[in-house]
Amino acid sequence: MAEIVVVSDQQAAGELAAESIVELIRRTPDAVLGLATGSTPLALYRALAAQVAAQDVDVSRVRGFALDEYVGLPEGHPESYRAVITREVVEPLGLTPSLIHVPNGSSEGIEHAGADYEAAILAAGGVDVQILGIGTDGHIGFNEPGSSFASVTRVKTLTEQTRRDNARFFPTEADVPMHCITQGLGTILRARHLVLLAFGEGKAAAVAGAVEGPVTASNPGSAIQLHPHATVIVDEAAASGLHNLDYYRYAYANKPAWQKL
Ligand code: GLP
Repeated sequence: MAEIVVVSDQQAAGELAAESIVELIRRTPDAVLGLATGSTPLALYRALAAQVAAQDVDVSRVRGFALDEYVGLPEGHPESYRAVITREVVEPLGLTPSLIHVPNGSSEGIEHAGADYEAAILAAGGVDVQILGIGTDGHIGFNEPGSSFASVTRVKTLTEQTRRDNARFFPTEADVPMHCITQGLGTILRARHLVLLAFGEGKAAAVAGAVEGPVTASNPGSAIQLHPHATVIVDEAAASGLHNLDYYRYAYANKPAWQKL
């Protein structure tokens, strides 16, 4: 079972997750971070940047792999995930840009971009901690409902729901790309630790399905139930659909001090 941690707000979630990542980087200076985009992980990235600066943590050797990218946006488009990762993660943390990878969503060479990305993750020794958000339909990365649990990085078609959800970042819904390239559920499950964050009532059903629903490709987030070390950090609103909430609170409150996140 994933460990469920209910916190008061996004800032508390960000600080908690950031502490665990700072510890990882201290232990493993060339740690491999799995980087999610979307609005959910922003509080974590802000907290991480603050902790890295305050504690003078050397992040020059930290490596990173983004989860996904839109296909076909012009290079440098501000909403490309390459641009978002640069703006929200690489620059504020002071990471080494050449060590941070994003799937190649340019149309040129798109046929082998997925296989290339898988090879790069394997060559790096795999992802130490994979940060995840979750879509309202349960998608993680851009693995929409129906994605195979064995899937690897590949080109996918976004659902209309996801295009609607992401339209807020573009002038109109029609400007949201139709295709994306995303790590697969199989890729994500190979990461050594999953940290899934979710906030707000709009995510309550997706979180409940991922944590307590049946393990089914119809709810890609439910893949986390197959992972031996998954942590789900949620606010009260996102936790509101969970049946066993009292137990999760009890277990976290009584967690042995030596156990880390
Ligand atoms: C996007 C991203 C996902 C993200 C999800 C939720 O489409 N590809 O990685 O987890 O949707 O986004 P948000 O965090 O903005 O709610």
